[in-house]
Amino acid sequence: MIKVDLSNTKIDVDGVDVSEAHKKLRDISAENWNVWVETPNKITDAEIDRFLKTAEEIRKNFDVLFVVGSGGNYTSPFAAAQFLGSEFPIEYLVSFDPMTIERALKRWKGKRICVNLSSKSGTTLETYSTFDTIKSFVKRTIMTLGEKYKKRDFTVFEGVGGRYSARDVMYLPLAVAGVDIKAMHEGARAAYKDLKSPYDNEAYKYAIARYKLHTQVKKSVEFFASFYDGLEGFGRWWQPLFSESEGKDGKGLLPVPLLYSRDLHTMGQYVQQGNPIFFETILNIAKPPVESKLNLAAFKGTVKAHADAGVPVVIINIDRLDAYGFGYLFYFFEIACAMSAMLLGVNPFNQPGVEFYKKEMLDNPEIADYVKKLPMGSMTKTPKRS
Ligand code: PA5
Repeated sequence: MIKVDLSNTKIDVDGVDVSEAHKKLRDISAENWNVWVETPNKITDAEIDRFLKTAEEIRKNFDVLFVVGSGGNYTSPFAAAQFLGSEFPIEYLVSFDPMTIERALKRWKGKRICVNLSSKSGTTLETYSTFDTIKSFVKRTIMTLGEKYKKRDFTVFEGVGGRYSARDVMYLPLAVAGVDIKAMHEGARAAYKDLKSPYDNEAYKYAIARYKLHTQVKKSVEFFASFYDGLEGFGRWWQPLFSESEGKDGKGLLPVPLLYSRDLHTMGQYVQQGNPIFFETILNIAKPPVESKLNLAAFKGTVKAHADAGVPVVIINIDRLDAYGFGYLFYFFEIACAMSAMLLGVNPFNQPGVEFYKKEMLDNPEIADYVKKLPMGSMTKTPKRS
């Protein structure tokens, strides 16, 4: 399904031993925060059916779904729905900027709003304050909120952290969007099977390439591009996956998503002739949903021009990018990212830097009374699943 092409990089995968990191990655426990590795098997068909049933009710009883969640909680459903399309109105809302929320709420004035709030820690202020603003607006305008209907809880497995929770958090909104989440989960299961061995593992190949380009070729930035406008959201998911997993202890490639050909006209000059601190990774769809000779010519021309200029270009070729392909792709990058961080010697599954900012903000006495009133934590205690 996915093949990593290193022919334009001048490196290979020889000489990097992944066995220790592989063992660590597969030592699954909630304490190690790597339970996500097993979620393609742990999320059962019955749970997928529950997502589908709830989605059907939402589509029947509401006019819009607000997805309220920070970081990984919104980037995964947003990425897939942007490329695969949505048959139902969905707003992705999370912000401290009251204008953003007020505008969205005005767009849906008088309509029936369902809120899908998602937070693993239960301490993310952006998420809860957005929810609070929606609630008070709803009270003011006597709109119908999801609370009128029975609140449904979908739990995230214990030991699955934010950015590695794509499967846990995206299936409900994507089912509402009309995406075939059964096929998507099949794709994740196929990726699980294909990527469980330390040998001939395409995700590890990408991880080793990043590691070598960073530590041996001394590149410090990775540009990640594709030639499909609908994959801009995927770049938004890919970036925090890598930045929060690797960016610690003064280490890590700086992950910068781009969208070609648009950004060939904003960043192309830099890529071609600027300070060579970067390499480039291009996600290519072998059989795109709609073929375009122009897009293909742009892809081929870009790879040649950049490689000729000395830019190492990693190409990740995926056969097809339907719901199944997306399920495969998310899992592929999660495995690649975890391995890449482990090779660098950092823990991929924590985010101590983000916690500093959260603590500083929550300790601010000027907002203490407001924060106390928010229902933080109450919906998010990752309960144990049987
Ligand atoms: O990857 C991460 O852990 C973060 O991006 C989180 O998803 C983000 O900080 C939101 O966290 P939470 O799910 O605890 O609200």
